[in-house]
Amino acid sequence: MSRGAASQPQVQRVSPPADRRAQLLDDVVRGLADTPPQLPSKWFYDGRGSALFEQITQLPEYYPTRAETAILQAHADALAAAADADELVELGSGSSTKTRLLLAAMHRHRPGPTYVPLDVSETAVDGAAEALQADYPWLEVRGYVGDFEADLAALPRRGRRLLAFLGSTIGNLDPDQRPTLLAAMRAACDPDDRLLLGADLVKDTDRLLAAYDDPAGVTAAFNRNVLEVVRRELDAEVDPDDFAHAPCWNAEQDRIEMWLVARRDTVIALPADGQRWTFAAGEGLRTELSSKFRRDGLSAELTAAGFEVQRWLTDADGDFALVLAAPR
Ligand code: SAH
Ligand code: AVI
Repeated sequence: MSRGAASQPQVQRVSPPADRRAQLLDDVVRGLADTPPQLPSKWFYDGRGSALFEQITQLPEYYPTRAETAILQAHADALAAAADADELVELGSGSSTKTRLLLAAMHRHRPGPTYVPLDVSETAVDGAAEALQADYPWLEVRGYVGDFEADLAALPRRGRRLLAFLGSTIGNLDPDQRPTLLAAMRAACDPDDRLLLGADLVKDTDRLLAAYDDPAGVTAAFNRNVLEVVRRELDAEVDPDDFAHAPCWNAEQDRIEMWLVARRDTVIALPADGQRWTFAAGEGLRTELSSKFRRDGLSAELTAAGFEVQRWLTDADGDFALVLAAPR
């Protein structure tokens, strides 16, 4: 069904802005009291953080976006045919740039799909919805600003579903939280639905580290942006320049970790809430986990969540996997 150029993208918030502040405050108070001190990586993504992530995807060192794009360029039509879906629900959709390959293939297979992006970044969902609607008048866009760990079950269904979680954002979850999200994704699938999961694979440590430590300093700005968000949204006292960007490879856990390490003695304080955390020079705050996967381990996690792996697709260099899975 063609909808004509008059379609307006619809974007809804799943919960009100006051909840966002309360959640950020809760995450900061809990996270900074933790050992080690840490902040959830979803707070990177205000408008500036989303724009910095887009810059990261263009860096020569950051291979995952190019690798996943290459897989989609080669296999989008086969994936669209295999999924045979009416709607594409995408978690952590960001700018939806790679998703265009999938949407166009879905439209070729079965005209007029619905696209349901869900992302915590309001600017990302608004921008993607507007750009997609302008470029793809046949597409119905129903966007949601929300948290994929909390809000997936709230999304209304519009026929057979392809649930996509691209970019290896699954690697940003704490490994203890992955089974919960995979179970929620399984619960969001009917028997004929499909899951498309992007996963960055374990590889040479130097290449991994280079992807998170670019000489242009874009990843460093992205990392410090979480403190800009805390400062602005919680009226916090914090100087992001007091912290150095410090990524490392955790070989036991197969993951890149991003840290902010105090360059000098400094504090993060919430005057309105009477909270204050001190950082001596050299002390660190962990801001992101980026787990890298092996085929056996990820397949076992999918099986345990109630999925059956149908296709395991990689780029020519074997850097990245795109996995099509069906409910068992
Ligand atoms: N899928 C895109 C973007 C990846 S960046 C790609 O592959 O290029 C990760 C995206 O997930 C960001 O847009 C961020 O805002 C979003 N995100 C991170 N944590 C989230 C959460 N808990 N709920 C919803 N969106 C989240
Ligand atoms: C969104 N996510 C999969 C990115 C990653 O590679 O873990 C976020 C990122 N962090 C630093 N660079 C990119």
